[in-house]
Amino acid sequence: MRVCHTVREVRDFVRAARAEGLVGLVPTMGYFHDGHLALMHRARSECRTVVVSIYVNPLQFGPREDFRSYPRDPERDLRLAEGAGVDMVFMPDDGEMYPPGYATYVEVEGLTDKLCGRSRPGHFRGVATVVTKLFNIVRPDRAYFGEKDFQQALVIRRLAADLNLDLEIITVPTVREPDGLAMSSRNVYLSPAEREAATVLYRSLVKARDAILAGERTPERVRHILAATIAAEPLADLDYAEVYGLPWLAGLDRLEGEVLLAVAARVGRARLIDNLVVKVPPAEE
Ligand code: PAF
Repeated sequence: MRVCHTVREVRDFVRAARAEGLVGLVPTMGYFHDGHLALMHRARSECRTVVVSIYVNPLQFGPREDFRSYPRDPERDLRLAEGAGVDMVFMPDDGEMYPPGYATYVEVEGLTDKLCGRSRPGHFRGVATVVTKLFNIVRPDRAYFGEKDFQQALVIRRLAADLNLDLEIITVPTVREPDGLAMSSRNVYLSPAEREAATVLYRSLVKARDAILAGERTPERVRHILAATIAAEPLADLDYAEVYGLPWLAGLDRLEGEVLLAVAARVGRARLIDNLVVKVPPAEE
């Protein structure tokens, strides 16, 4: 497995690889868990060459967020990437990604003014910018993103379509712990009691989904189920509990079609997010 630190090294590597078949990119911020490995395995099964980027992107963190303390373990990450059959890892530093004089940003409108976009101003501008740069550096045929960051995947799908990027965006289902907690690098911040409490996000989603499957069609009542379930957990502090229509997060008067249930809460030091997609059963005649 090659490790590249500069854009020039990546370009040289990918130029040769592209002649042999599809190139897949898995963009990450490192500190791998099984969710990252699922992305790498999917890319490995579909592409001739698999590239993983590891870069904790300062641009997508707010001033009071966890950029400095974000968990990092590059040596372990490299071992895991190699075990997953990755061909090349791109690990740039800040100077390589944002050299002095850097002044260009990518802004996706509309989709980013709700959910995490509302709670974390500037976050998706940082994500859209770094992902566009990674796409231009690697020029993959396919890029792989986890469904846990559902809104992020939609933002990236939107930017790829709007900017006519010649690649396919593939999303991979959320990988969960046996008790339902979505895998996340930030789970490492949780104390044992907080780790237990953190399952409330998934429990709230399941409860709301079951209500929809049992006939609930009022968005406000579904939001209430999500919020009340999380509020009942003393160690969790609710950020948002929302339901939107898919594919593009439309506001809804009544639930129909495919909907996204999405929650975010702070548990101790960790801000956690989770979601479920629910196919609303059609009304009976
Ligand atoms: O999902 C992540 O890990 C990051 O937001 C991404 C897509 C690698 C951009 O920094």
